[in-house]
Amino acid sequence: MRRPGFARIANALIGRVEKASSLDRPGYAADTAIARPAQIAGSPAEKVGNALHGTWYGHPLHPMLVTLPIGAWTLAFGLDLLAMLGVRSRGMERGADMALKAGAAGAVAAAAAGMADWQHTNGRDRRIGTAHALVNSTALGLNLLSIALRGGGDIRRGRLASAAGWACLFVGGYLGGHMVYRRQIGVDHADRSPEPRDFQAVLPVMELEEDRPRRVEVWDENTRQKIGVVLVRHQGRVHAMGARCSHMGGPLDQGWVLKGALVCPWHGSSYDLKSGWPTSGPSTCPQPRYEVRVTKGMVEIRREQEPGDEVVTAADAARQPSMALQPEAAVSLGGRKADEVLFEHHELIRRLFEAIKKTPRDDPQRRDLMRILASELEIHEYIEDHIFYPAVQPISEDVPIAHSEHRQLSDLLAMTLKLNTASPEFEEHLQALHAAMDHHAGSEERSMFREAQRLGDARLRTLGQALESMLEEQRTSRARRMFRDLKIRLLEGV
Ligand code: FES
Ligand SMILES: [Fe+2]
Ligand SMILES: [Fe+2]
Repeated sequence: MRRPGFARIANALIGRVEKASSLDRPGYAADTAIARPAQIAGSPAEKVGNALHGTWYGHPLHPMLVTLPIGAWTLAFGLDLLAMLGVRSRGMERGADMALKAGAAGAVAAAAAGMADWQHTNGRDRRIGTAHALVNSTALGLNLLSIALRGGGDIRRGRLASAAGWACLFVGGYLGGHMVYRRQIGVDHADRSPEPRDFQAVLPVMELEEDRPRRVEVWDENTRQKIGVVLVRHQGRVHAMGARCSHMGGPLDQGWVLKGALVCPWHGSSYDLKSGWPTSGPSTCPQPRYEVRVTKGMVEIRREQEPGDEVVTAADAARQPSMALQPEAAVSLGGRKADEVLFEHHELIRRLFEAIKKTPRDDPQRRDLMRILASELEIHEYIEDHIFYPAVQPISEDVPIAHSEHRQLSDLLAMTLKLNTASPEFEEHLQALHAAMDHHAGSEERSMFREAQRLGDARLRTLGQALESMLEEQRTSRARRMFRDLKIRLLEGV
């Protein structure tokens, strides 16, 4: 599919700015001009810098402050438009004036915060930042001009100037969006893997020297990658935090310890060794933390789980009666386990795909098979969403992505149902749906079902029973069948 025209043009223009090395010289000159007085001022300037970055706020301050000029200037623009359409009053004129002034004050604050963040960018990010600042400064200049013109009684030209400023704001906003969403400026760059969930030995404690950061690695099976952790021995205690700096991914293990904090070698963010929170910016975001203990001369670490991320371990599941039934209950419960019920249903769905593919294109049976597939897929998602996923949520990291994949499957199914089963498009869509289903079911079987074993046999059999009865009810209840058929017909566009 072709990319939309607007995005293509904007991308090309932004690409030119990113390549414009002529912006580097004035950019670095301006940077030095700001940095020098700050260095001379020392600690007070550092405090101002931290306030502007948003280290106290826990998020970059700049995006919050830009809402002031955007909101206020848009209000002024709206009031001006109404006036031009003949809806005017003295109060509205005054309102537009005040909005322009409030917006200008907000823009100055936002510019200061943006400038503080921009100083820690380099290369193409810095060039885009420079362009973003220039465009937004033009917007501010035009709005100040508008305030002056309106004050002098030239309302018409005043309105023109602020309208031009509003257009600049739009361009500036687009560039700002590019910096955050494409270039990832201001987003968290730390590795937030919840692994290891149980204490894991990583290094002999004797190998740790006082205040000399040391990198170790743990394995995340889910993302299949190594996660760097930095260990620091400081005043008789060993501390551990993520080795990748949350600001822009700098290597904290190559940093140094100063005033009880670990300093990043890239832009100088300091992280409190005990809490992982930044004590000095530009970072605004805490580092991932690990619990540390020393057993038999080995440093062992365990990830401190983040809110909403708590994934219980096998030991936790055994301790919590709500998670696993008592062993005697397990004996009395026969039947299949939840993962077995779902696996069998996956197999049925896979066979349905094969059957549709084997049926000749012009055979009307294809449509019937397709409806059965649609119905079984819908039932499958329903029973997983209502019974299985909530049960495995505390022990599996896969559930959020599984929900997204269900959505993806139902979107694809809806597209496929609309097509003529004899058409090549149908064939293509069926293939895509099959691949999506294979991926989803496969990853459930390889990962989520395996993790589900931590729930224990008894709990899995109870869940299996619940799944089977819901499956049965979904297939046999007349009301549910009618409702599902109606939905399928609607999706088919009949
Ligand atoms: S990467 Fe910027 S302070 Fe660490
Ligand atoms: Fe699923
Ligand atoms: Fe499934």
